Amino acid sequence: MNYLSYGLEGKVAIVTGGSRGIGLDLAKNLLAQGARVVICGRKQAGLNDALAVLDGGDQALAVAAHIAKEADVDRLFDQTVERFGRVDALVNNVGMNLITGVVDADPSLFSKIVESNLTGTWLCSRKAAQLMREQKAGKIVSITSIAARRAAPFMGIYGIAKAAIEMMTKTLAQELAPFNVQVNAVAPCMVRTGFSQPFWSNDDLLKEIVRAIPLGRIAETTDVVHPVLFLCSDGAGFITGQTIMVDGGASAV
Ligand SMILES: NC(=O)c1ccc[n+]([C@@H]2O[C@H](COP(=O)([O-])OP(=O)(O)OC[C@H]3O[C@@H](n4cnc5c(N)ncnc54)[C@H](OP(=O)(O)O)[C@@H]3O)[C@@H](O)[C@H]2O)c1
Repeated sequence: MNYLSYGLEGKVAIVTGGSRGIGLDLAKNLLAQGARVVICGRKQAGLNDALAVLDGGDQALAVAAHIAKEADVDRLFDQTVERFGRVDALVNNVGMNLITGVVDADPSLFSKIVESNLTGTWLCSRKAAQLMREQKAGKIVSITSIAARRAAPFMGIYGIAKAAIEMMTKTLAQELAPFNVQVNAVAPCMVRTGFSQPFWSNDDLLKEIVRAIPLGRIAETTDVVHPVLFLCSDGAGFITGQTIMVDGGASAV
């Protein structure tokens, strides 16, 4: 009997923001699947630590890059192609939030959140799409959030940016379909990483959050990694323009 696998052996994947949290776990699992992996982050120290954890030898590369800066994104893709020759999958994993209301936010704060989440995801997707269009193959997967669908206090600008990424996913899916490039997203509820630690490390707050999740817990990074690996695989070749909710059923109401 032939068993199905993700079939990622030899594929080249860029994971933005792979120095910790979901991105690091994803990079680990991509390497374990036999893929070659490029991670990026703004801080070189974080990338060095991540490379040590990944222990991927010449199958792993880290590039210091701020995804909202075009020159940095160019460098990320140039170094990837120089080392590995192509890009089979891009995972837009970078995301950040600054706790703020929408009404009273300073315009510079609004821009910062939109740039790091939306503009950066577009700059990376655009660069990947140009390469993948030539290759006539590729996968782009973005990590959005349940905040794209449910307005939450102090996460409004983040939610607006993530919702825009969901629309960009549909738009790119249509634009790239003639070139056999599939574009999808994964939208988690709270995931146990440093990003959300102020929430899940507070027992009372955690109980409140979990009350709204039918499966009775927040997500672990593995819960997000599995659907992303699937969406990067040839098995997902007929799925495009979709967002998979990884939220323990929270949106199934
Ligand atoms: N954790 C959650 O509860 C949760 C829930 C729903 C969705 N998400 C989404 O899941 C994704 C990953 O979240 P996470 O919890 O793993 O985050 P995290 O632990 O905060 O890690 C973020 C990663 O992104 C990098 N990064 C941040 N801004 C960057 C930029 N402008 N350019 C390049 N790299 C940048 C960070 O490295 P540097 O600091 O060195 O740049 C780090 O590697 C995000 O898109 C987030 O919005 C998370």
